[in-house]
Amino acid sequence: MTGRQKRNLIILTDPGQDQAAAIFMILGASEAFNVKGIVATAGNIDLSHTVNNCLKLLELAGRSDIPVYAGSPRPILRDLTTAEHVHGPTGLDGVELPEPKSRPAPGSGVAFIIDTIRRADPGEITICSLSPLTNLALALVQAPDIAPKINSIVAMAGAYFEVGNITPTAEFNVYVDPEAAQIVLGSGVPVTLLPLDVTHQMLSTRERLNAMRAIGNRCGPALADMLTFSERFDLDKYGWEGAPLHGPCVPAYMLDSEIFSGRHINVSVERGSPLTLGMTVADWWQITDRPKNAFYVRSGDAVRYYQLLQDCLKRLP
Ligand code: BDR
Repeated sequence: MTGRQKRNLIILTDPGQDQAAAIFMILGASEAFNVKGIVATAGNIDLSHTVNNCLKLLELAGRSDIPVYAGSPRPILRDLTTAEHVHGPTGLDGVELPEPKSRPAPGSGVAFIIDTIRRADPGEITICSLSPLTNLALALVQAPDIAPKINSIVAMAGAYFEVGNITPTAEFNVYVDPEAAQIVLGSGVPVTLLPLDVTHQMLSTRERLNAMRAIGNRCGPALADMLTFSERFDLDKYGWEGAPLHGPCVPAYMLDSEIFSGRHINVSVERGSPLTLGMTVADWWQITDRPKNAFYVRSGDAVRYYQLLQDCLKRLP
């Protein structure tokens, strides 16, 4: 990243062990990213837990200076679906994390998104979304003037070729708040989606987890323990040699987009059918004339991805 300008990020997250990995990747790449703030989302678990989990991760990484805002306690229209069956009863099980000394920042996550983008120069802020898109969608609805000022939205969301993980057809982040995902896809802001189609290629094999554990700092081994907890569900389900590591695909894409490949296509979210609610209908072959609204990433190089993660983890305490 030498010579390149830092990206100013707003992170949307409901961590989640895989999102802990994404947050650590971002913090370890401090030459590339400046984190303006984190908005905790209701998703993998309720909002009070996700706020606390964000604060704990920052405490472990020695970055309690980054403000954490509480987002909306629920999706725009629907009841909250959570995923403690994957992430554990705290939403981030697998390791004893330090109790945070810092408190959530005052004000709502939605107001933070709006104010930060309004105050910034056009193109200055990039949205890094690891979670359901509720808070960004609410910000775009309340303050449509922010849309043309956002540099881009890079989101772990959706699935098409790999089908779903929370229902047979829907990926969790989109299923939790399909209306929010559709609002974001219709906003006119450049969107890149990192769906299950690519995250399912990024398997956290034993060898890769051992390499994290061997780093010998605080964050590497803690992350390996967290991922060892959450992988149980996926290993049982898929029978693969490791679990998919979703979240870090977002910062990895921003750090080195050449690791990935995809296409500009139309992606629309199913919101009417109870059977396929939250499905991201990806027009990969341009069968319709619906306008292209997303760069849809379909594949990536797992070796380079884990090398990047490892390099970032090494730079943390
Ligand atoms: C997404 O769902 C969540 O449970 C994970 O943290 C990730 O954001 C994957 O579908």
